[in-house]
Amino acid sequence: TWTPDSFVETTVADLKAKIGTDKVILGLSGGVDSSVAAMLLHKAIGKNLHCIFVNNGLLRKDEFPSVLEQYEGMGLNVKGVDASARFLDELAGESDPEKKRKIIGRVFIEVFDDESHLVENAKWLAQGTIYPDVIESVSATGGPSATIKSHHNVGGLPDFMKLSVVEPLRMLFKDEVRRVGASMGLDPLLLGRHPFPGPGLAIRILGDITREKVAILQEVDAIFINGLKSAGLYDKVWQAGAMLLPVNSVGVMGDERTYEKCVALRAVESTDGMTADWVNLPYEFLQKTSNDIINKVRGVNRVVYDISSKPPATIEWE
Ligand code: XMP
Repeated sequence: TWTPDSFVETTVADLKAKIGTDKVILGLSGGVDSSVAAMLLHKAIGKNLHCIFVNNGLLRKDEFPSVLEQYEGMGLNVKGVDASARFLDELAGESDPEKKRKIIGRVFIEVFDDESHLVENAKWLAQGTIYPDVIESVSATGGPSATIKSHHNVGGLPDFMKLSVVEPLRMLFKDEVRRVGASMGLDPLLLGRHPFPGPGLAIRILGDITREKVAILQEVDAIFINGLKSAGLYDKVWQAGAMLLPVNSVGVMGDERTYEKCVALRAVESTDGMTADWVNLPYEFLQKTSNDIINKVRGVNRVVYDISSKPPATIEWE
C-alpha cells in the first residue's frame, strides 16, 4: 500500500540512483508542488540541487522576499532572480489569454536557461509537475484542455536546453503531495498554501497587463487573503483569489460620479482543481472585505463575488 513515508523512501533511492553525482536545477514557485519536489531532491542529492526562484512581476504582494526567506530557512540552495521588468515589458499590450501564457512560458525558459548556464555541469532539470498537470496538458484530442497549461512544458523542453527532465511527483495528486511534504516535515503554512497558477496575476488581470493593474490587484488580493486568514476561513477554502475585470463602472464619491475598476472575488472548494464549487462565504465576511477593498484600494469602486462552479466555469477567469 502507498504511504507518504514509503513514497519518500523509494523516491529518494530512485533519485540517487538516477542522478548520481550530477547537478540538478529546479525552478521553485513558492507553492506546494515545487517545494516538495525540492525537498525530495535535497534529501537525495543535497548541495547538488540548485534551486532558482524567479520573480516574474506577477506574484502576490511581498511574495518574492518572504518566500525566499522561507526557503533559506529550509536549508535549500536557492537563488532569487528578479526578472519582473523583463516579463512585464514583454507582456505589454497583449490581451489574448493564451498569448499571455505563451509569453510568460517563453520568458521563463529564457531566464531559466540564462541561470542554468551559471551552474557548471548541470545535467538535469527538475519540475514539480503533478498528475493533474499531466492530464490537463496532454489532452490528445486537442480539446480546450490541450492548451490550458501551455506554459507548463510538460513533455519536454526546447532542444537548446540540453537538460534531462526529472519529475518526482508526476504520479501524485495534490493531497498526496501535501501528505508527502508533511512526512518530510515541511512547514504546515507552506503545505497549506492555496494553489496559485504559474502565470500568476497575469491570468487574473483580464485583458492587457500594466504595472498599475498588477499593483491594484496585489492590494486587493492581499486584503482578501489576509481577511480569510484572520477570519479562520483560509484553511476551509481550496483556492481563493481576485480578478481585475476589464470594465469600468460608475460610482459616487462625495458629490462626484466616478468611473472606476471592478474586481471579482473567487473562492472555491475542490480536491484536485479539476472540478470545483464556489464557497458559501459568510455575508459579514464578504461585507467587511468589500468595504476594506473599496476604502483602501484607489481605483476600485465595485466588488462582486463569483458564484459559478467548475464545470462549466473554470477556477481562473482566463
Ligand atoms: P482552471 O482555471 O483551469 O484551474 O479551473 C485549475 C487549477 O489550475 C490552475 N491554473 C494554472 N496553473 N498554469 C498553472 O500553473 C496555468 O496556466 C494555469 N491555469 C490555471 C488554477 O489556479 C487552478 O488551481
